[in-house]
Amino acid sequence: IERRCRTFRVPVHRWLACATQDITIQQWDSDEPIPRSELLAGVAGKHGLLCLLSERIDKEVLDAAGSNLKIISTLSVGVDHLALEEIKKRGIRVGYTPDILTDATAELSVALLLAACRRLPESAEAVKNGGWTTWKPLWMCGYGLSDSTVGIIGLGRIGQAVARRLKPFGVKKFLYTGSRPKPESAVEFQADFVPLTKLAEESDFVVVTCSLTPDTKGMCDKDFFSRMKKTSVLINTSRGAVVNQEDLYQALVSGQIAAAGLDVTTPEPLPTDHPLLSLKNCVILPHIGSATYATRSAMSVLAANNLLAGLKGESMPNELQL
Ligand code: GLV
Ligand code: GLV
Repeated sequence: IERRCRTFRVPVHRWLACATQDITIQQWDSDEPIPRSELLAGVAGKHGLLCLLSERIDKEVLDAAGSNLKIISTLSVGVDHLALEEIKKRGIRVGYTPDILTDATAELSVALLLAACRRLPESAEAVKNGGWTTWKPLWMCGYGLSDSTVGIIGLGRIGQAVARRLKPFGVKKFLYTGSRPKPESAVEFQADFVPLTKLAEESDFVVVTCSLTPDTKGMCDKDFFSRMKKTSVLINTSRGAVVNQEDLYQALVSGQIAAAGLDVTTPEPLPTDHPLLSLKNCVILPHIGSATYATRSAMSVLAANNLLAGLKGESMPNELQL
């Protein structure tokens, strides 16, 4: 984490070093992803592991670590990259970084939604490439939020923060779906809990903010898109695998839905020759939901604190209930 923190406002590496005189830190000192072989070799015998969402922490890594490993601290709110059952079986505790990234991720979700529905990248590109010839009544028209129905898949911390930000744009109705109704969360938006199919049929905007689990994997598929309005827009800022990308491509090419905005894809990074990148009505960002200096800095401090507390046998500021 040290090298990554150098560009942040809080020098986490220095602070971590002071706080941990009795702890030896071995660090992958590069912004390039750690090669798998380095991770497997480096983790051997360690008591704690601070990882990013780009590292798959599976049985192979846990075996390579050996029985010393008692704490895993991930610099993310998502934990789908962690083999939780294996981790639990071995009595390893997990720290993660919820809450502090909610605002930044909700903000990015709104930015992406507006970019997709008002065709911002396509319009900006036209200014540069000579496509802007004159003011034309129907040129670059899109769909606005005023009087719209917004469907949120996963009305958790981030889903609620997105709804809170979208409300002042004049949204008429909020719908949500998830594993169970959440009346205490929905009351602020007078949001109706509906089945996924109804959410698809009635929403002008669908925003995916649920976590990736076996239940949500591939949830937005051919059937889902076929129910959506031709004028509707899909936004995903959770995990790429919640959306079936082949089905999304077909829906966008055939005009089954109007547009999509994705901050997450499978795989990441998306190969530059991927069919989705050829579509004007698909805005794709490189997983930057929590990417503000302040948020990444706070995430780093929290991930370090989770790790240190866990190593000392204390309760972590944010421990995942396994
Ligand atoms: C980002 O996607 C995170 O899980 O923190
Ligand atoms: C737009 O610029 C308008 O004047 O309607």
